Amino acid sequence: MHKDIDKILVDKIAIAERVQSLGTRIAADLERELREEAGREGRAYDPDHPDATGIVIIPILTGAFIFTADLVRCLSFKLSIRLAAVSSYPGKSVESKGVRIDRELPHDLGGKHVLVIDDILDSGQTLAVVKDLIMKQNPASVRLCVLLRKPETRRVADVDAEYVGFEIPDEFVVGYGLDYDGYYRNYPAIAVLKSDAL
Ligand code: IMP
Ligand code: MG
Repeated sequence: MHKDIDKILVDKIAIAERVQSLGTRIAADLERELREEAGREGRAYDPDHPDATGIVIIPILTGAFIFTADLVRCLSFKLSIRLAAVSSYPGKSVESKGVRIDRELPHDLGGKHVLVIDDILDSGQTLAVVKDLIMKQNPASVRLCVLLRKPETRRVADVDAEYVGFEIPDEFVVGYGLDYDGYYRNYPAIAVLKSDAL
């Protein structure tokens, strides 16, 4: 596997530090949201109160699985994790060919605070479709979190993420959950492949 790697864009130490700081920010924002909600409903803020535990994390599989595993362990709220699966680069393609829902999003997101986690914002088609399906359910809030964001010139859909780990150039990357043709997800850093591995 390592012989196929051309260069590392983000090493594993930088990833770990950034995931921790994203977790701190997300936790602060969610706490503020829950406090305001408690205030509106005239009750004291108690994150473990059954009515206050409407936080739902939706990782978009497969790419988000490693990022999610690390990020959710930085959040100490009582929350639920509901998996959804969307594919957009079938097989040996590095260009998005539209979006296919492989595992449906939850249907009971009304009134919930939803945090969607994905590996990368590229054309934006994936997150635009996902956000749309969630918004239709009238959630209390929706936030999008991606580990990586490619330049805005890549965007086809009008969508952005509230939380971004790293801005990366317009290069096809693998590792830390991201694949090429199903491989390299287990590589611990964000890396570019040699052209002869593509
Ligand atoms: P979008 O719908 O074009 O924004 O693409 C999002 C999805 O495409 C991501 O969740 C990834 O699965 C995949 N993707 C986009 N860019 C890359 C890349 O550089 N490497 C690996 N997968 C990518
Ligand atoms: Mg993918």
